[in-house]
Amino acid sequence: MAMIAHKCRDVVVEVVDVNAERIAAWQSDRLPIFEPGLDDIVRSARGRNLSFSTDVDAAIRAADIIFIAVNTPTKTYGVGAGRAADLKYIERCARRIAHSLKGDTIIVEKSTVPVHTSELVKTVMEARSGGGNVQVLSNPEFLAEGTAVRDLEEPDRVLIGGERTPEGDAAVETLTSVYAQWVPRERIITTNLWSSELSKLTANAFLAQRISSINAISALCEETGADVDEIALAIGLDSRIGPKFLRSSVGFGGSCFQKDIFNLVYLCEHFDLPEVASYWEQVVHMNDYQKGRFSKRIINALFNTVSGKRIAILGFSFKKDTNDTRESAAIYVCRHLLQEQAHLAIYDPQVSEEEIRAELSASLDGDGEIEVCTDPYDAVRGAHATAVLTEWNEFADLDFASIYEEMLKPAFIFDGRNILDLHKLRAMGFVAHGVGKR
Ligand code: UDX
Repeated sequence: MAMIAHKCRDVVVEVVDVNAERIAAWQSDRLPIFEPGLDDIVRSARGRNLSFSTDVDAAIRAADIIFIAVNTPTKTYGVGAGRAADLKYIERCARRIAHSLKGDTIIVEKSTVPVHTSELVKTVMEARSGGGNVQVLSNPEFLAEGTAVRDLEEPDRVLIGGERTPEGDAAVETLTSVYAQWVPRERIITTNLWSSELSKLTANAFLAQRISSINAISALCEETGADVDEIALAIGLDSRIGPKFLRSSVGFGGSCFQKDIFNLVYLCEHFDLPEVASYWEQVVHMNDYQKGRFSKRIINALFNTVSGKRIAILGFSFKKDTNDTRESAAIYVCRHLLQEQAHLAIYDPQVSEEEIRAELSASLDGDGEIEVCTDPYDAVRGAHATAVLTEWNEFADLDFASIYEEMLKPAFIFDGRNILDLHKLRAMGFVAHGVGKR
């Protein structure tokens, strides 16, 4: 929404939420999320054509276009628990809109939703008492965290799904005209509603599948002496495969991949397609295997016990340039090591101590301990091992000679992101491990 306000001075964007604390944070000097470049855009548009408020009903009444951008987390209860998307927030939004709406409106699903969710929104709208024509569009968001501003400024494509009726087409054109203020028209593609909804789940499933595929090969590399980065280079130069998303790692994280695959799996099961469901589910299984393999490798290398040993953890967010920790591989690795009674010294340049402790508190009932450090050199002091779990640029530039001096010997280092030069580290004296490298 900030990008729309930034690019379209003639569009008034009002962001509303029932969470007053969240809205206050967006109005303040300290935005609630860390995203490179976002602060500048919000600051310049705020007070001009971008505002934040808790007056949800007034915003609904005033709007020509309403974007629904609420969470659709995996259900944790009842039918479909652990797999299906929880649509209660979408439904609550739809009902609130139906209650306050006056006149013609376009409702845009921005949240990632299972195919046919727009049916839910439409049904709620049709049952309302007020007048006016309502069109429901699907406009999934493909930005990635850490590169959100660039992804929004120059998207590979903008996808808009709508009903194939004259009214539907007109609504699609209205939304297209907003994006067309900065995105070339040929990159704005329009489809029917169901294709648009399903494209988003499919895109995330394909991206996650690439990572699980290269991670599967990384296990074989560690056994055979092949190097996964060399393989990624060799296959990525095939223009049919392409070089992106072939970085083997400790495992993918983030709020989308696992959730959306489970969502896809649930849909397949719902439509009685068990073979399709288990095909996609394997992508998540492979990711769990990769995370587990990494922590087991640390334990095995440290003579099969990490009990009471200090292990420095560098990076806690699910990828660099974000403070988001949702489904971060670091959480899984840390929990596993804590179960084995390790003492973890954790450093991340953006994730707060509060957040790290909240993620790990449930694993602290045994003899495992955590210390959250504000400096990577404090974390490594006296450590038996160092594990790099997020690919923050600053980690590659650390002074490893002095880190080696500070650590206990033998000094083990495990690079879960393949950002370090293992040969150099070994020359310094480290016992150095990467992913998919012997
Ligand atoms: C993803 C999709 O890329 C985006 O289009 C969608 O809108 C939201 O979900 P995001 O989760 O923000 O975006 O980040 P992404 O860059 O896709 O990375 C996801 C995870 O995969 C991270 O943990 C990242 O470290 C990992 N990853 C990515 C790899 O392990 N290897 C790679 O080659 C690429």
